[in-house]
This record gives sequence, structure tokens and C-alpha cells, in this order.
Amino acid sequence: MKRAIWAGAVLALTGAALAAQPAGDGPRYVNGTNLVRPTEYREWVFLGSGIDMTYQAPEASKSRQSFSNVYVNPSAYRAFMQSGKWPDRSVFVLEIRAAGSGGAINGNTSARYQTDLVVLEAEVKDSRFPDGWAFFDFGQVENLRDAAEPLGGERVARCIECHTKHTAVERTFVQFYPTLLEVARRMGTVKPGH
Ligand code: HEC
Repeated sequence: MKRAIWAGAVLALTGAALAAQPAGDGPRYVNGTNLVRPTEYREWVFLGSGIDMTYQAPEASKSRQSFSNVYVNPSAYRAFMQSGKWPDRSVFVLEIRAAGSGGAINGNTSARYQTDLVVLEAEVKDSRFPDGWAFFDFGQVENLRDAAEPLGGERVARCIECHTKHTAVERTFVQFYPTLLEVARRMGTVKPGH
């Protein structure tokens, strides 16, 4: 009996904690602004994949090739498809995976395919941040954090600079997500120069 009461209390508490988060598939936070690592992002919408799009000099990526996969929460994707703009509470996940070789069935030695997860990063558009956007690093795969604080200082300055100067739509690299680029062009939301 006692045990049943405890179980009930735990359920009620968990329910209360979840209820404190806004409904939907948008970002979830602890301590106000620490982003909870989305565990279900592989069920989200896949925007695109690049190879050797890493931020190092091209020579560095030659020795260790990698793929980047980008996902967005489904409600943000649907809003973008209607407007060519990202709604408040959009979450983007950048998954870096190592590139494998030597397993192509046609014997092509230059063929590459995705293997182990290496790094997981994220970006949100959310009016709770003064700038409207925030960047997060969940770390390397050996010890991925369950929640990450918004990056600050020098580290975020790099993210912001590149994601402002070189992005086709708002702070995102829509120029590399072909089906979205088409929509943004139609809606007139692509920045000049793209
Ligand atoms: C030198 C440029 C550069 C810097 C610095 C940079 N990024 Fe990116 N980022 C890119 C490019 C290019 C893409 C396009 C996707 C890819 O890599 O294939 C991208 C894509 C992303 C995406 C997917 C959504 C989108 O914006 O298109 C996330 C999330 C992301 N970056 C997070 C970060 C974080 C976090 C930082 C800082 C720690 C960062 N980036 C710093 C170039 C940069």
C-alpha cells in the first residue's frame, strides 16, 4: 500500500515537472535556459547532410572526414514551409558523424558512408533569449550532456559570426537544405547575395 502511494506521488511529481514545460515539440529547458538534449531528434525532419562541412581548415578535414546531419522539430518545419521563416521555438540539431570507407559494395574506394556519432550541437530561435537565438554544445559522444547551457563569450561569438555572415535565411544555412531553399526563394525570405 505504502509503495503504491509512493508510486502515485512520483507520477504526480513527474507530471507536474512536465506540465511546467510549454506543450509541443519545441525546446525544453532546465534552469530557464539550459537546453535539454532532444533524444527523439531522429524522428524530426531531416533538412540535409554535408560532408567535410566542418569549421576547420580544409586540410584538417582531409585526414578525418565527417558528415553533418541537420534536423529540425516538425512544427518549426511546417511553419517554414508556409512562410519561409522560422517560428519562435524552433530547434535545430547538428549531428556530426564520422565517414567510413572501404565497405562500398561496388569496390569504389572513394565512396563514403556515415558511421559513429562524434559531436552533437544545437541552435534555437526562442524569444526567451535577449538575442532571439542561442547556441549549444552537448559535447563529444563519449560523454554527451543531458542538458547544455547556452554558449557564451568567445565560443558563441564564433557561432554567431558565421551564422550571421554566411547564412541564407535568418541564422540558418538554408542554402544547403535544397527543399527549404526552394520555399524561401518563393517566399522572398532569402538574404541578398544567396
Ligand atoms: C565557420 C562557420 C561556422 C561556425 C563558426 C559555426 N557554424 Fe554551425 N553551421 C555552419 C554550416 C556551414 C552549417 C550547415 C550545415 C553543415 O554543416 O552541413 C552549420 C549548421 C549548423 C546547425 C544546423 C542549423 C543551421 O543553422 O543551418 C547548427 C545547430 C549549428 N550549425 C550549430 C553551431 C554551433 C553551436 C556553433 C558554435 C559552437 C556553430 N554552429 C558554429 C557553419 C558554422
